[in-house]
Amino acid sequence: MTEKDFIPKPYSNTLEAGQVTWESPSNIALVKYWGKKKNQIPENPSISFTLNNCKTITSLSFSKKENHDGFSFEIYLDDEIKGDFKPKIQTFFERIEEYLSFLKTYHFEIRTTNTFPHSSGIASSASGMSALALCLMSIERSLGEVEMTEVFFNQKASFLARLGSGSACRSIEGDLIVWGENDVIAGSSDLYGVKYPYEVHENFKDYQDTILLVDKGEKQVSSTVGHNLMHGHPYAQNRFNQAHDNLKKLKSILASGDLDQFNLLVESEALTLHAMMMASMPYFILMKPNTLKIINKIWQFREETGMPISFTLDAGANVHVLYPKQNTHKILEFIKNELVAYCQNEQYICDQIGFGANQL
Ligand code: PMV
Repeated sequence: MTEKDFIPKPYSNTLEAGQVTWESPSNIALVKYWGKKKNQIPENPSISFTLNNCKTITSLSFSKKENHDGFSFEIYLDDEIKGDFKPKIQTFFERIEEYLSFLKTYHFEIRTTNTFPHSSGIASSASGMSALALCLMSIERSLGEVEMTEVFFNQKASFLARLGSGSACRSIEGDLIVWGENDVIAGSSDLYGVKYPYEVHENFKDYQDTILLVDKGEKQVSSTVGHNLMHGHPYAQNRFNQAHDNLKKLKSILASGDLDQFNLLVESEALTLHAMMMASMPYFILMKPNTLKIINKIWQFREETGMPISFTLDAGANVHVLYPKQNTHKILEFIKNELVAYCQNEQYICDQIGFGANQL
């Protein structure tokens, strides 16, 4: 598939107005995407667990408008108009217009809500952009004459979501999604996420992710700025090579079920992401003192109990604690007794692997 395959043929049906609603989850990367080329093309491949409980629910109402000069839309978050979201959506519409030729023919009302608390420091861009991309795809599907295949629908939704926020392309489906062309995963693409196509050991089914909200403040660095810091970064090329190597290693870990190796790999990925930020110019430390306290507690607990627990991080201070479902009882007890004290207002979210977005 190339970009051109996503340019639509002239639409045969007309729709005056309507409404579609999708819910779409967040995702957590095991091998991280950090650094991009033009048009949101990743510098290296990434792989993520799709989440189940952290979701955005978006309703998109559309009605034909008189002129076709520009984009016309309003955005509401929890029923409150959000003017400050407009520039991001405007940019998104500009990027995807070529692939959705109906965009300027409608006025849109976007109503969105998240299942996780806002400004929790959990990125809503992956769930938000994927939910919106899916709503737009539902409209496109109704405008076409020929039945669109499920595969194409998901591919194009992922392709569009990527143009909103790179990691959003990994939220359309589950449970493990790969994005970024590489030699290890057949069918992988820079343009959209694909379902991980190989056998996965029982150990990784129903994996749990308890998200510890260490710092709910505004992000210190936007991901756009962060990705750009990889241009001219002294360690960039080695990092991109490492991501390819780690994906290859992870493929055998996912097949064998080796939890020890899994833990080492995902933690190394998380720390490398943060190391890249610390080594860029300007530099950033996105962990907080409590992030480090939690990490050390996790290591101590793992050492003492032999439990298969590990952490990963996004570009922020919150900690994702990962573990197999069968260990939930003991690990959740540890989290409540020892880790929650380091969270802002003792807040945490229990999530687990999910299977992607749903139309409502
Ligand atoms: O999708 P973006 O541009 O917000 O980038 C997200 C990058 C990380 O969350 C830090 C890593 C990843 O692969 O999700």
